[in-house]
Parts: sequence; structure tokens; C-alpha cells
Amino acid sequence: MAKAYNDGWYFSEQFDENWLSWKGTDLTDEALVQLLEENHFTQVRLPHTVKELPSNYCNELDYQMLSCYWRLIEAPLDWTGKEILLTFGAAAHVAEVYLNGQFLAKHANGYTAFTVDLSPALRLGQKNSLLVKLDSRETVNVPPFGKAVDYLTYGGLYRGVTLAIKERSYFEDVFVNATGDKKLHLQLKGREADDAEIQGWIGDGSDNLVAVIDKRPFVAELTLELPEVELWTLENPTLYQLHLELMKDHQKLDEHTVRFGFRSLAFTSDGFFLNGEKIKLRGLNRHQSWPYMGYAVPKAGQVLDADILKFELGCNAVRTSHYPQSHDFLNRCDEIGLLVFTEMPGWQYIGDEEWKKVALQKVREMVEQYRNHPSIFLWGVRINESPDDDNFYRETNALAHALDPSRPTGGVRNFKRSHLLEDVYTYNDFFHNGSNKGCEAKDKVTSNPQKGYLISEYNGHMFPTKSYDWERKRLEQALRHARVLNDVADEDDIAGSFGWCLFDYHTHQDFGSGDRICHHGVLDMYRNHKLAASVYAAQGCEKPVLAISSSMDIGEHPAGFLGDIYAFTNADEIRLYKNQKFVKSYVADKAYSALGKAPVLIDDIIGDLLVEEENLSPKVSEKVKKCLLAIAKYGPEALPLSLYPTMAQLIAFYGVTREKAERWFGKYVASWGEKATQWRFEAWKDGEKVAETIKEPVQKVSLEVKVDHVDLCEEDTWDMATIRIRAIDQNGNTLPYLNRSLTFKLDGQADLIGPEHAPLVGGMAGTYIKTIGQKGSAQLTISMAGAEDVQINFTCEGGKENE
Ligand code: GAL
Repeated sequence: MAKAYNDGWYFSEQFDENWLSWKGTDLTDEALVQLLEENHFTQVRLPHTVKELPSNYCNELDYQMLSCYWRLIEAPLDWTGKEILLTFGAAAHVAEVYLNGQFLAKHANGYTAFTVDLSPALRLGQKNSLLVKLDSRETVNVPPFGKAVDYLTYGGLYRGVTLAIKERSYFEDVFVNATGDKKLHLQLKGREADDAEIQGWIGDGSDNLVAVIDKRPFVAELTLELPEVELWTLENPTLYQLHLELMKDHQKLDEHTVRFGFRSLAFTSDGFFLNGEKIKLRGLNRHQSWPYMGYAVPKAGQVLDADILKFELGCNAVRTSHYPQSHDFLNRCDEIGLLVFTEMPGWQYIGDEEWKKVALQKVREMVEQYRNHPSIFLWGVRINESPDDDNFYRETNALAHALDPSRPTGGVRNFKRSHLLEDVYTYNDFFHNGSNKGCEAKDKVTSNPQKGYLISEYNGHMFPTKSYDWERKRLEQALRHARVLNDVADEDDIAGSFGWCLFDYHTHQDFGSGDRICHHGVLDMYRNHKLAASVYAAQGCEKPVLAISSSMDIGEHPAGFLGDIYAFTNADEIRLYKNQKFVKSYVADKAYSALGKAPVLIDDIIGDLLVEEENLSPKVSEKVKKCLLAIAKYGPEALPLSLYPTMAQLIAFYGVTREKAERWFGKYVASWGEKATQWRFEAWKDGEKVAETIKEPVQKVSLEVKVDHVDLCEEDTWDMATIRIRAIDQNGNTLPYLNRSLTFKLDGQADLIGPEHAPLVGGMAGTYIKTIGQKGSAQLTISMAGAEDVQINFTCEGGKENE
């Protein structure tokens, strides 16, 4: 078993060649600490970022450095004759590993794991000096570097490290290819295992034995048939465990456990099929970045992102743009039934032969390290949005297919009729500009209509939207997502689509809004929902969804005209009440007829009120309403000409004077000079009210705080709680323009990540708490002027055995 090796590290923002000659052996503990301090090392725990960054207006040069991680390894004598394997989850971006001054390994590119055999340089029974020289400068000749890149590539040992003590014979790799016909094809790679035997078992998620693998000679390939197993599906993602033991002379030399699921995957010219069932993929692109910490976030943060996609946004798929991401994220996708399109690292640029060699090696590492995750349905084997390079991409395709015959390949391009060497044409379709169709037809793009076709990105930079943008802009972002989803749903032969993107992300100076942020997310960087998130939630979530696009404040709009109001909901009907009086009921907008849960257009906020309150006949009321609503939508100066005859009729035959019209407009549309107006939107489903939202003048401000978990527990690494904060009114509506400052005060056995004072942005904010290896409790107090403090209590379980 590999042990977590995440504590006891020291870090320096510099690197000095002289440090290579340090021999841990010669020094007392005190002398060692002194030496480290003199050389500006600080003690750190992994995952670690070389530099915490501010949440915006950060500088990408800050994390670019030649830095050093150092750790003492005490090697007991009973390691004699063993293989000592140290595995780094990720080292961004080029790492050299030295032990006692001896160079052991170099790994290029920060998105895959690598293992170093320490044995050749290890001094048993002594203290050993382990040193990692880490280059996080973007000048290194490895993907994604070489040209501009639209995301920050933060440096650090940002995933966990493990240490495994192995006999000379051990399992180097086990690939479980479990297919929909309930067969298990195993590929085993062993070190010095040819004369060994294997035995093992297969268990289900509750540790029940499903099958026994009788002792047999070690083989490289083995197929097992299991009659009674359940398939891995989106609704019921059943997982199994394979446990294998390597035996020699009745002695167990090694053991290996893999979690897997049985399912079949297929792309045809017609779409995507999981276990023979056609599924329209509806997903978002995810970067693995966070405020302050960059990439260095432990399991809890990774799990939360997967849960957000599945349970808060109702997605059935995610693309890990533009690199392989944490196994903690992938494990969670396996567990909850979220399909993953994962791809080799890179962005738009293909480098020289040396660069390509690294890229090809990354394809190998990606497939070998990730192929046991049942959630992965597609390998991306092209550098995102790169030009055709047939020789290079023939190699990436062949390699992925050779290492994993079970999955198709794709490769994301941003141009049409590219040379299709993959199984699926995966295309970034930025066709939609707000006033045209949501996507292009498959046959207008692909160079081979017989193969599968998938939209890997849409929207994003076509309409950057901040959480603090004005109401209509936030609405338009939501509608653009709805339009694309609708038009993709309408095209039977498009397998699905991935919106750009899940949340706002840090970027380089060449991109973003000048604040080093691409505001392309349907969530902000702290994982708070923008309006567009509700478009996704409405499609796939079980629990009631109701988001109203407007605060109903006319002053937010040019000339005071409210414009269109939409409800994003998974209910069947929206009922509107004004000051407790029923106005009207609305259903899905027909313009989105292909979408399961189309936005609901609330285009009449007068209903029958003119009949009831002004004694107009229904016929006259309809005419008056038509004019008043048109004025609200277009303004009096830009009314459609078609309305003029109606207005003339009202004046000539029904006694509608200008004064009356103005009064009615004020009362029924603008709600001006009236006592406070209350709008109540009710969502009804199957004859029952399932949700309601009230819009009225803000009377009280408070903070709503959501915490992913309060029982913090260190497993392999430090643990982290994500705290998401919204300023809300008395009815729970977000207050997007409340920009007061928040204060975070933390007491107890935990640390705050990020600043102690932060402003609300778009009425929302976030902060993070991390454990410090101690058992105990912690209390976070969040304060803001004008609102009651919010207190959250955490318990902290200290470090499990962590070398
Ligand atoms: C794409 C690119 C993404 C992101 C996006 C913004 O071209 O693949 O990484 O930059 O544009 O919309």
C-alpha cells in the first residue's frame, strides 16, 4: 500500500545549485532546521501552490519561478532489498528529483503523475535529503507553453505525493476494461512477475464478494465473465472493486485494488450511446482552478465541483479542459454518474520535435493513469484548437487506441473540415452570436458525417458576463446558453455539447477583462451561481428550480422599461401575482420547443387587472394592454408601426386619453408612485405549487452562507471547507449590487485561506478554511455592516497516519 507523503516538506521560492550537495545524514535535526531557515525555506503541506494569488488583478509572473521543495527521508533498515517508489500527483511544470545530491528523474509537464524509484540513491538506516527542483516558468518547452494560453498555469506540487515500499516483484499497472457485455478484460503489467502467481477477488460497493479469482500463473492478459453484475449508468453508477494479489512461494509480494464499472460506450453517425441507450450529452467545461490557491486544492474541493455539475446544474457530462485533472475529481464522477471527456494538455500551439515528444508522452500518461475511471467516455488526443498535423495526430490516436481499445478518441478543433483522424469530430462551435441559430448543423462542419460529432465548446468569450453586470446582460447570457442547448437538442445527430464554461477563471494578460479573469462561467470563481446556471439546473435537476431574471426594478433599465422577463424553471407553469392579485399564468416559451425545460417568457404583467380594476371590457383591455406592454418593451419613441391603428382606435372610439394611458402605465407597468408593489412568482408542477419567488423593495439585508462540509477530516492531505456567501433580501433574492466588505474571523485549529477582508462581488463571495493537522474545532465568523454576523462551527479531525 502506498502511504500519503504530504507532510514534512519545506519550500523555497528560490533554487540554489549548492543545495544539491546537502546530505541529510550529516546534520542534527536542529542544524537542519537552521540550514533551511537560513536558506529561506518554510514548512509546507501538500497540495501546495508556489504562490497564493489575489482573486483578481493578479500577475501571472508571480508564480513563474525556479523553486525548491525539500524533504528528509528517514530510511529504516527494513527497507533493505525493497523498491522505494515515490509518486508525485503533479509537479507544475518541470521537475527534477534528486536524492542525496544524485539526480534521479526529470518530469516535464504539470498535469500527470510520475513515479521515481528512490532505491539507487537511498542510504538505509540514515537520513536522506530529497530535493525537487521545480520550474514553473512558462518559457519551458512543454505543453501548453509556446504561445499565449487562456488560463493561468500556477506552479507547485499541487496534488498529493505517495510513498510505496515494494518487494522486487510488484504490479506496475492493472488496466480493467469492463464492458457492457459484463466481461472483464484485464491487462497486467508486473515487475519481475513472470514466475509469480496471481489470485484475488471482485467485490461490489458494499464489500460483498462477487467473484473469486483462483490462484493462477501471472499473465499479461486475462478475461473473466461475470453473469450477475449491474451496469454503470448515469442514474445508478454501480462500481465494483478488483483486488489482486501477487504471490510467490505462498508469500504475498504485492496487492493492488482497482475500482471500476461495467458499461459500453459508442459514438455513431447518429450520436452517443451508453449501454446501448442514446444520450444527449449536456455538460460544461471545467478548469481545475480556484481563487488564491490556483491548482492546489485537496479532495473536498474536487468533489464539490463534480457535485455542483451533477446535482446543482443537472449536467450529465463534463470536459476537463484542457488537461487531465485530479483523480479525486474523476473518482467522484465515477461515483455519481457524470461522464468525462478528458484531454491531453495543450492550448492552440504545437511546438518543435522535443515539445511533441513530451506531448506524446502525456497522451501515454493520461491514458495509462486514467483508463480505469468508468466515467471517462472520450480521450482528447489533439492539442485544443491546434491546426491539423497529420503525422503528430496519427501518433496520438494510435497510442491512445493501443493503450485503451475500449474508448473512442476525439480532439478539439475550432475550424471546419479538419482532417478527421479521430473517432469523433469534436468542435468548438462559437456560431451563436445572440441573434442567429444556436449551433451549426453537423454536416456543415465535419469532414466525415459517418463518424460521431460533438460540440466541445460554445458561448464563453462570445458573451463574457460578470455577476455584477446589469440585469439584461445576465439575462442574455442565460438565454444564449438556452438557445444553444435548444438547437443542439433539435439536431439529432449531434451527440451533445459542452458550454464554456463552468466558472470564471484566472487568465493571462492577453485575455479576460483586464482583471486577469475570464468572466465566462455560469458560476463565479467562488462557485456561486449566475443566472445562466439555472438554465442547466432546470434541464437536469430533480429539486424545484425557479429563477426570475428581473428584480422588477424599472430604474435598472434604460428609460425605465423593464424589457422581457424570464423564468428559468423545471416546473410546468408560472403564476404571477401582483400585490396578492392573480395576474396571469405562463408556460414554456415555444421558441425553445426542443429544450426539455424551456425558459418561460413573462411578457404580460397586466393580465386581467384592467378589467377588474378599471372596468374595461375584455376586448378594450386587450388593446390597451398591447399598447402598454409595447411601450414597456420598446419605449414610446420606437413603437412598432403595426400598433398605430390600435392606438388610434383607442383614442377615437374608447375615450383613452393620454392622461389615462400615462396613469395606467404608471400603475400597471412601472408601478410608480404606488405603495410598494409586491410581485409573487409561483412555480407549479403537476397541479402543485413547488416554489415561489417574491420581488419587492428590499427591506432587510442578510448573508446566506453555504458550507460544503463542517466536519473537516484529514485523510491523505489537509482538508478544506468551501464557504459560499450571498447577500440576500428578505425574500432570499441575491443583491447583485451590494458591494460591502466582509470580514472573516477564524478561531481554533484551522487556517483561513485568502484575505480576512473581501468585498461582495455581484452580491456574492467565498472563502476557504483549511485544517492544520490538529484535532479540535474552529469557528468562523462572517461579518458585514448592516447584517447579522454568521457563525459556522467546524470540527477538525487531525492527521491520519501521514508520513
Ligand atoms: C476557446 C478555448 C477556451 C477558451 C474559450 C473562451 O477558444 O478553447 O480555452 O479560451 O475559447 O471562450
